[in-house]
Amino acid sequence: MNAPTLSPLHGRLALCRPGFERECLQELEQAARDAGLAGYARARESGGHAEFILHDGSDAGALTVATRWDALIFARQVLDLIARLEGLDPVDRIGPLLAALNERGERFGDLVIEHTDSDAGRELAGLARSLTPPLRVALQRARLLDAAAPRHLHVLLLAGDSLLLAAAAPGAAAPDPGGIPRLRFPAGAPSRSTLKLEEALLVLLDERERERWLRAGMTAVDLGAAPGGWTFQLVRRSLRVIAVDNGPMDRALLDSGLVEHRREDGFRFRPARTVDWLVCDMVEQPRRIAALMAAWLGERRCRRALFNLKLPMKKRLVEVRLCLDLIRDAVPGIELRARQLYHDREEITVLALPHA
Ligand SMILES: C[S@@+](CC[C@H](N)C(=O)[O-])C[C@H]1O[C@@H](n2cnc3c(N)ncnc32)[C@H](O)[C@@H]1O
Repeated sequence: MNAPTLSPLHGRLALCRPGFERECLQELEQAARDAGLAGYARARESGGHAEFILHDGSDAGALTVATRWDALIFARQVLDLIARLEGLDPVDRIGPLLAALNERGERFGDLVIEHTDSDAGRELAGLARSLTPPLRVALQRARLLDAAAPRHLHVLLLAGDSLLLAAAAPGAAAPDPGGIPRLRFPAGAPSRSTLKLEEALLVLLDERERERWLRAGMTAVDLGAAPGGWTFQLVRRSLRVIAVDNGPMDRALLDSGLVEHRREDGFRFRPARTVDWLVCDMVEQPRRIAALMAAWLGERRCRRALFNLKLPMKKRLVEVRLCLDLIRDAVPGIELRARQLYHDREEITVLALPHA
């Protein structure tokens, strides 16, 4: 077998939902351009990851800041690229990996082995698990692990014989491998959509915000609520919910005493009093949803909003930017946090926080 090839890389590695590599690339390119950094982006369709390679001499630190994982919409995770290793012998993947890292000399605080979310990537989950303990021991023996080191080492398996080496400071990367939070389907939830809202509240809010903004007795309107997966998340936090949908709501939710079901058009319904939350999962054109959210927020009918924008069209990033600008124009100073979550399909989730 030929010796493996090592190609040092200078740039960023982003993981995304397979099929959204183009949007991820466009965001990386735009962020680099805005930061005055020159390079090029590349990805394979449905590969579940994208790379932005900096031209020699460019400031990699500036790119790391410009493309933080939580500043990009379509990236689940973003890491600093170190190298690509190809042509690995399955009998000894660790030897060449250690040789490459030894040559660089950087020590790492911890090791994360991950894979993409593509069909091919998911088949590598077992290998990622089985490789972790021996690689960790080997790194320790080679004195390449040091709990005080600022960056963690990320190994992204691309195939049985190839991988990418990357790194990130723990606070500057998504906390879960692959940027995928492991959520268990809650007993009694009426639809799988419930995990979308659970993930959104986990990823788009920090702990302090969740404590302050999701308290018992607070009020919410859920537009397009049936059968009640999103309402379930609000009710389990003891919020009172007006669920607007012509479709039937889950019986147990209605029996909770916290839910009022209104069989009305979500585009026409308005609450009698300002509510703490507006959430919306109606399947509609994104611009119509954005205009509706802008109207509620502009008229102060809700203190904050969390909604999905469905993206069945071709120019998805263009459409997203149009929708976000529409809301920013209507509600000056508003903070928008937008992400394609793991549980989102052809859609993104947006949190809108008007500043009082
Ligand atoms: C994706 S489902 C919502 C699932 C829900 N979030 C859950 O977790 O169970 C979309 C819902 O939007 C409702 N919907 C679509 N257009 C609507 C409208 N104009 N007014 C009210 N509901 C609408 C549909 O009836 C459907 O129940």
